[in-house]
Amino acid sequence: MTSETTTSRFPTGFLWGASTAPHQNEGNNTTSDFWALEQLPGSSFAERSGDALDFYHRWKEDVDLVKSLGLTAFRFGIEWARVEPTRGHFAKAELAHYRRIIDYCLSVGVDPVITLHHFTSPLWFAQAGGWGSDGAVDRFGDYVAAVAPILEGVTWVATINEPNMFAVMFQMSTPLQYPDPAAVMVQINESMAPVNGEAGINAFTMPEPESIPTQVMIAAHERARAILREKTSVKVGWTIAVQGLVARPGFESELARYQWVWEDVFLEASKDDDWVGVQSYTSQLVGPNGLEGAPEGADLTQTGWAYRPDALGLALRHTWEATGGTPMLVTENGIATADDQQRIDYTTGALEGLAEVLRDGLDVRGYLHWTLMDNFEWVHGYEKTFGLIAVDRTTFARNPKRSAYWLGEVARTNGSGIRS
Ligand code: BGC
Repeated sequence: MTSETTTSRFPTGFLWGASTAPHQNEGNNTTSDFWALEQLPGSSFAERSGDALDFYHRWKEDVDLVKSLGLTAFRFGIEWARVEPTRGHFAKAELAHYRRIIDYCLSVGVDPVITLHHFTSPLWFAQAGGWGSDGAVDRFGDYVAAVAPILEGVTWVATINEPNMFAVMFQMSTPLQYPDPAAVMVQINESMAPVNGEAGINAFTMPEPESIPTQVMIAAHERARAILREKTSVKVGWTIAVQGLVARPGFESELARYQWVWEDVFLEASKDDDWVGVQSYTSQLVGPNGLEGAPEGADLTQTGWAYRPDALGLALRHTWEATGGTPMLVTENGIATADDQQRIDYTTGALEGLAEVLRDGLDVRGYLHWTLMDNFEWVHGYEKTFGLIAVDRTTFARNPKRSAYWLGEVARTNGSGIRS
């Protein structure tokens, strides 16, 4: 073994953790737009989120698990629909609930990484026109201002999760503005149908983000950042889906165009942030027909994405270049698979890429795996399993997989077993 392979590239204090999102874990998020969409006849959700993993009540057990595994960071979200269940009513009890989770994380030495918006919004907001309405940025700003006081002592706050995916997805809630939402939903779902015959939300196979929704996301982020900087001492960022896009030879200018609309316009908006979250799962080619789906014969994960552990390195390098050097946190990276050894192999490959990025001097502050527990994978329901921990959805018992102990060991040794 050379010293290359034994020396950890990971700086002291590097964060090792796992990520979650409120709607996918808490359960019974009944005042949100997604909850309403899930109940519609003909809904595109394979099943309803329902009780999810009951994280809303079991958060302490889950933070204890994170801690006992050896992880040092835990990403969770604050659910706007709970904090402001009707317009202008900011529920003190809900704010206190989230503050208890923050306090507990801080007391056991787990760094909370907090997301303020992870795809879901309050139902009242969606019914009043949602993100496409004139007052959207103001409404979001009111919510952020209400949350600011509970963020004392927190370092990492993400304003909006994957604005580049959400700029396309947010029209999913448009039907809720109409008296017959189910009928409107059919049309909207058709307009969001994957391009290039590929399945699925969360890969760049949807129609690309348009300029107005993109500008709304950026304006909402900038508003939230200004409020948080005025009222708190947190480090502000947002988390971007970065796809590790690569040009087929001769299609470099097409690549640059796709990169701009899907990623760089959002990454540019991170130039003045304290950090940027990088979320990486796979890599896609850009060729004569634009963005390509997984190549013929590629090894596919449960979500139909090509198995590409090397995508994380590509995503980090691209983010660094496009932001001009904003410090990065990996806020999501993982794989939907029923084969836990494949999860370990994928994550090993991704961490090797990360170690190389660190070797080259790029500033990465931590790695948070997606996701802590098998959870509600949006339109796919509960069948696709990204978790380090399995959950019995009747008893809610948590059963860590081998990958959870493995990642805990990587964390405890600060990545000393990861080659670079
Ligand atoms: C989202 C998560 C999602 C994950 C896997 C990301 O786009 O932030 O909520 O579960 O990808 O699809």
